[in-house]
Amino acid sequence: MRLERIDLYQLHRIDAKVPVEESLGALKTAQDAGKIRHVGLSEVTVAEIEQAKKVVPIVSIQNQYNITDRDSEGALNYCEKEKMGFIPWAPIGGGRNPSLRKTGNALEAEAKRHNVSVVQLALAWLLQKSPVMLPIPGTSSLAHLEENMAAEKLQLSADEWKKIEKLVRQS
Ligand SMILES: NC(=O)c1ccc[n+]([C@@H]2O[C@H](COP(=O)([O-])OP(=O)(O)OC[C@H]3O[C@@H](n4cnc5c(N)ncnc54)[C@H](OP(=O)(O)O)[C@@H]3O)[C@@H](O)[C@H]2O)c1
Repeated sequence: MRLERIDLYQLHRIDAKVPVEESLGALKTAQDAGKIRHVGLSEVTVAEIEQAKKVVPIVSIQNQYNITDRDSEGALNYCEKEKMGFIPWAPIGGGRNPSLRKTGNALEAEAKRHNVSVVQLALAWLLQKSPVMLPIPGTSSLAHLEENMAAEKLQLSADEWKKIEKLVRQS
């Protein structure tokens, strides 16, 4: 990687077969040696975050989360409380989880009304949801990248977001 130090090392999964003292202990050793600056975790529960924090400081969590899949809300609330970054993967439904695309029809009219795409609506929803939210939409297309970046401009009232959340729940 031609780097002296990795600024943020996101451990992809905690291996249930390996004690966290061992797996995260290795990251702590790398951190103490100056090879890693910060450590983050992925697909974890609040209990797992708390257990990991006993071994090494944790600055960010990367769990699956989007407007149609809010199972990780507990972890998001924990990140807010503890001032940690929350990096939702599949922020727009993802390649492997097409739930947003299935809900797309319900959101289509709302997106049109606000002159944005459904994807932009989903990204704007994430950005207004929490100050610790750091969406990482994946794309191989420059046009999509520009469209996704522009989502930050969409500002709706709390009532409008509630209406959109209701549409998603009903779809
Ligand atoms: N920690 C984990 O366990 C985990 C798991 C999976 C992914 N990730 C990471 O999460 C990040 C997000 O990737 P993701 O796969 O989860 O899914 P995602 O960002 O929710 O969706 C990516 C898909 O959406 C399409 N897309 C992007 N912008 C679009 C737009 N404006 N309009 C229509 N389609 C659009 C992309 O196709 P185009 O290329 O055509 O734009 C791609 O197929 C990546 O960095 C990935 O590495 C992490």
